[in-house]
Amino acid sequence: MLLSFLPLPEQASETAPTIDFLTLLFTVLTLFFSAIVFAAIGYFAIKYRRGSNADRSNPIAGSLKLELTWTIIPLLMALAMFTYSASVYFHVVHPPADAMDVSVVGRQWMWKLQHPTGQREINELHVPLGQAVRLTMTSQDVIHSFFIPAFRIKQDVVPGMYSQIWFRPTETGTFHLFCAEYCGTEHSRMIGTVYVMEPDDYQRWLEGGTVEESMAKGGERLFRDKGCSGCHAGSNQSVRAPLLNGVYGGPVPLDDGSFVTADDMYIRDSILLPKKQVVAGFKPIMPTYQGQLSEEELFQLIAYIKSLK
Ligand code: CUA
Repeated sequence: MLLSFLPLPEQASETAPTIDFLTLLFTVLTLFFSAIVFAAIGYFAIKYRRGSNADRSNPIAGSLKLELTWTIIPLLMALAMFTYSASVYFHVVHPPADAMDVSVVGRQWMWKLQHPTGQREINELHVPLGQAVRLTMTSQDVIHSFFIPAFRIKQDVVPGMYSQIWFRPTETGTFHLFCAEYCGTEHSRMIGTVYVMEPDDYQRWLEGGTVEESMAKGGERLFRDKGCSGCHAGSNQSVRAPLLNGVYGGPVPLDDGSFVTADDMYIRDSILLPKKQVVAGFKPIMPTYQGQLSEEELFQLIAYIKSLK
């Protein structure tokens, strides 16, 4: 593998070698230019030390050629580094379309994860080799940070919002999962393990657990139990409310004439802060569900609304 001659931590995801290359490139360039500057300082300090008989006549007043050189070459280098890092960043923040969704809830002091098929895990994550995995993450108390060093991914997990990160594992095995944001007394114990398995083994693992219901099924149950269906279901609506079929992912017209994309964050806000973004043509009469739904339940409701075509 690229750069494997260096004592780097294991590279076990698609992006790991690119991140390492970028880090190394910046380190080498920084060292290179620091060396030039320090060498020049040392050379001139010795050559022009007090009492030396170096030639001090005809001091240089300026050199256009020199100034252009040390402006244009570093400019081009900086632009090249910017372009490359921007492309890496773009890749890291845009999960591919075939990514599998896993929801993550951080709390003092554990990671709670759920697969779309319903399997729940605590401080463990099982994923199939070669499969892109998108993590949608939130916290139910303070800021945590989801960190898998071997995959070179680290993302803050913040209460009240969703953050996202994705990876594609390229090696089977077990890898460390850490919380990388000091979050209280037992921060250092908020650790876990990622298991990357052959796809067949992963299927067997999925079938081995006891699963009550998929995330979307759980969301459908909540949708009924919490009374959402009283207003948002097609038939026998008691109150006129927007229908939710096919809403996910599309643009939603708002009262003030603007549009928002119906992503996870929008649906979350619509449930907890229903007056924040009112759909055009509807009255702001929906009550808030703040305090009545856990983060896991919100993820399930979102999965259900996502599943409505
Ligand atoms: Cu959670 Cu540190």
